[in-house]
Amino acid sequence: MPDIRESEPKSRWDALVHTGADTPMGQLLRRYWWPVAGQRELEAAPTRAVRLMGEDLVLYKDLSGNYGLIDRRCRHRRADMLHGFIEKCGLRCSYHGWLYDQTGQCIEQPYEDQAHPEARLKDQVRITAYPVQAHGGMLWAYLGPLPAPLVPDWEFFGWENGFRQIVISEIPCNWFQCQENSIDPVHFEWQHGNWNIRARGKTGPYQPTHVRVDFTEFEYGFQYKRIRTDTDETDRLWQIGRVCLWPNALFTGNHIEFRVPIDDATTLSVTWHFSRVPTEREPYVQKDSDIPTWHAPVKDENGRFITSHVMNQDFLAWVGQGTIADRSQEYLATSDRGIVLMRNQFLRDLDAIAKGKDPKAVIRDPKANRRVMLPVAERKPLMEGKPIAELLKDPDQAARIGDYIFQAGQPKEVRQAYLAAMGVNDADVKPLDQAVDILAPPEKRIARSS
Ligand code: FES
Ligand SMILES: [Fe+2]
Repeated sequence: MPDIRESEPKSRWDALVHTGADTPMGQLLRRYWWPVAGQRELEAAPTRAVRLMGEDLVLYKDLSGNYGLIDRRCRHRRADMLHGFIEKCGLRCSYHGWLYDQTGQCIEQPYEDQAHPEARLKDQVRITAYPVQAHGGMLWAYLGPLPAPLVPDWEFFGWENGFRQIVISEIPCNWFQCQENSIDPVHFEWQHGNWNIRARGKTGPYQPTHVRVDFTEFEYGFQYKRIRTDTDETDRLWQIGRVCLWPNALFTGNHIEFRVPIDDATTLSVTWHFSRVPTEREPYVQKDSDIPTWHAPVKDENGRFITSHVMNQDFLAWVGQGTIADRSQEYLATSDRGIVLMRNQFLRDLDAIAKGKDPKAVIRDPKANRRVMLPVAERKPLMEGKPIAELLKDPDQAARIGDYIFQAGQPKEVRQAYLAAMGVNDADVKPLDQAVDILAPPEKRIARSS
């Protein structure tokens, strides 16, 4: 039979990619909190431009330590609030001095207050404002209907003895195809494992192939599971697997990758990464407001996408699907069952909000929101740690100590802070010249020849 290009009915998935406030999906996504910056970034500069789901906003921390998120443009004559002055309460426009508090209420209009105090014009003036919360070293924004749900207190935000870092990049494509990657086990074999083999100039042998994949739903997302030719049902990646965390992230244990829609054509990738320090370094304490946050490049000096690191390889794939992937032209296969589950869940969530119900994984009960446990395939080493000598003997761990493996461009000062936390020097760490297969079972986890 020829490959008849039988298109998916376009309308079936089309609604899923739009994030504007006047779209169904935009209204659904506004029911969740979104990480938009590192807490430490606001310590360095108290105002920061944020574009989220097509809305241009300014995030700030005032002199009393309150966070606010307001319209980028002043309600008066549209000056840019990014250049505003932070005050004891709120952000003041630098053009004529109108001052807004974090609820968006205008609380001072210097000329009007002086010339016509009885008119109290400011009482009638409000600027768009949204709630902001600091959690896990990140600043979270909520653009939806009130009352807002709780910022999820995922268990990893409470893990101890870890060096955390936050990595942010702007990806020039729609957020939804980025999030589809969070439920796509087979891509790892090709876009990462075999990519690395080809990048070293070899044509093989390729990594062990996937032979089975499975997807199971739980309260806060989906687990995806895999068996490769070198594993079986007893492997941790079949028993527990990885987590597509609802609605916007991939959680693997040592890190979580949030896909945050800047607008329909651009995504902010926000990664929160945890490195368990060696047991010799306990107790290791890093305050949330001290977590280094760095902005990682996605292209090299020649304007080409960087492909040396894991997530950079993902970015290349997502952008390659088009600014907004055309799902009417795709040819889904059995490996894509997770993608379809995810899309259908979003369609169910759209129905739920149309009926006035909460969508999946919205948390409102404070008692249920205490260090919410998630499936973690490699929990023991993250919780218990190991001595440094043992870590350096494990090719996977050694690769992670030798470099930040997920994205290129880690600044030197972050690298130094990481090494200090681990209690090693660059000289103690041999850069690996072999590709490490991080999906291999731990007992078989030898560095595969490059
Ligand atoms: S434009 Fe902001 S105070 Fe006039
Ligand atoms: Fe990937």
